[in-house]
Amino acid sequence: MRNIVILGASGSIGLQTIDVIRKHKDKFKLLGLAVKENISLLQDVIEEFKPPYISIYNKSVKLPNFSYSPKIYYGREGLEILASLSGAELIVMAISGIEAIYPTQKAILNNKKIALATKEVIVTAGKFIKEWLKNTKSEIIPVDSEHSAIFQLIKNKNHIENIILTASGGPFFKKAKKDIENAKIEDVLKHPRWKMGKKTTIDSANMVNKALEIVEAHYLFNVPYENIKVVIHPQSIVHGIIEFLDGSMMAYLSPPDMRFAIQYALFYPEGPIYKWEKLNLKNLTLEFYSVDDEKFPIINYLYNVVKKGDIYPAILAISDEIFVSYFIDGKIKFYQIVPLIMELMERWKGKNEIENIEELFNLIEWVKKESENLIKTYSS
Ligand SMILES: NC(=O)c1ccc[n+]([C@@H]2O[C@H](COP(=O)([O-])OP(=O)(O)OC[C@H]3O[C@@H](n4cnc5c(N)ncnc54)[C@H](OP(=O)(O)O)[C@@H]3O)[C@@H](O)[C@H]2O)c1
Repeated sequence: MRNIVILGASGSIGLQTIDVIRKHKDKFKLLGLAVKENISLLQDVIEEFKPPYISIYNKSVKLPNFSYSPKIYYGREGLEILASLSGAELIVMAISGIEAIYPTQKAILNNKKIALATKEVIVTAGKFIKEWLKNTKSEIIPVDSEHSAIFQLIKNKNHIENIILTASGGPFFKKAKKDIENAKIEDVLKHPRWKMGKKTTIDSANMVNKALEIVEAHYLFNVPYENIKVVIHPQSIVHGIIEFLDGSMMAYLSPPDMRFAIQYALFYPEGPIYKWEKLNLKNLTLEFYSVDDEKFPIINYLYNVVKKGDIYPAILAISDEIFVSYFIDGKIKFYQIVPLIMELMERWKGKNEIENIEELFNLIEWVKKESENLIKTYSS
């Protein structure tokens, strides 16, 4: 039995991980789960699996009645305790946002295997994560579908030149620029292929998600930015492609269902055998397009700004989290998110590299303050 802890258990990835565990009750045991506040949503799941450890970030949440006595923890400390439980073999990191840095650090330093969905963590702290990993037995198995695809393709291969990440194009791929300008939250949340949490769905609609994934791939696979390409693939069947030095390619195909990547990570290094849904190759249409840089400027902007230093992807991830929440609260329009992120990066006049984790935490504070100032100038 492999003991699993899920951080972010009530979200899209968390619930799909529970689905995978449910299919393999003889192989996996749910040791612990963490949520921010939606614990009542998981009452049935908790009764089904009876995890001995539960963590709730928000201390003021009312606890449901449990038929047994789990140990309950709260706040950042709770996340850190669950990430380093002595019996835990795999931590599924599925929290939306950079708060996940803290339990990720704990999990690594406690030699845990991590199934990593939270790309924001690796985008902001990738450099430190690689440092922390060096002297431990910890290992990161990507859950993001594109990165899981590349991870699976890249094993035991050499002479690779490029890796190619696919992007569905989101709800505005075939829409005019003015539709993006007039977009309401309902339009933004209508993702054509994937059912994801709010933040990632919003990030997909303006392709900030793909910008984050380029950085994620850079850190996970040690590939220079210029060798990470993006191609629009509206069917979301091909998730990742590797291109060899001779120009030939190898691709990973599966239906657009995150449970493939989650199951792979849970079983790793053994291969999973359970079929969720098989691709039907008959009548399969696979289309590929270039990214429209005018409609989605963040990708090109990222390729340019990372040449200056690794502080910029961190500013991207931190500020995006803030501006997306402003958008959800109705304080800014959808089309303003990307220009605001770019403006914030332009405002950064400090050094271009982050030297240590304290500098990263100071940067988070700077971004929070400066975003508020920036918003004031936008709304006045
Ligand atoms: N969904 C996908 O298909 C997909 C694909 C690839 C990668 N990802 C990545 O996976 C991560 C999660 O995405 P999602 O779509 O599953 O998000 P989601 O549906 O919004 O769920 C987020 C989860 O994180 C929890 N959470 C948030 N802040 C927390 C905190 N401070 N402490 C403890 N738990 C906290 C939430 O708890 P509450 O419910 O209590 O708020 C919820 O369980 C994101 O980084 C995303 O980019 C997602």
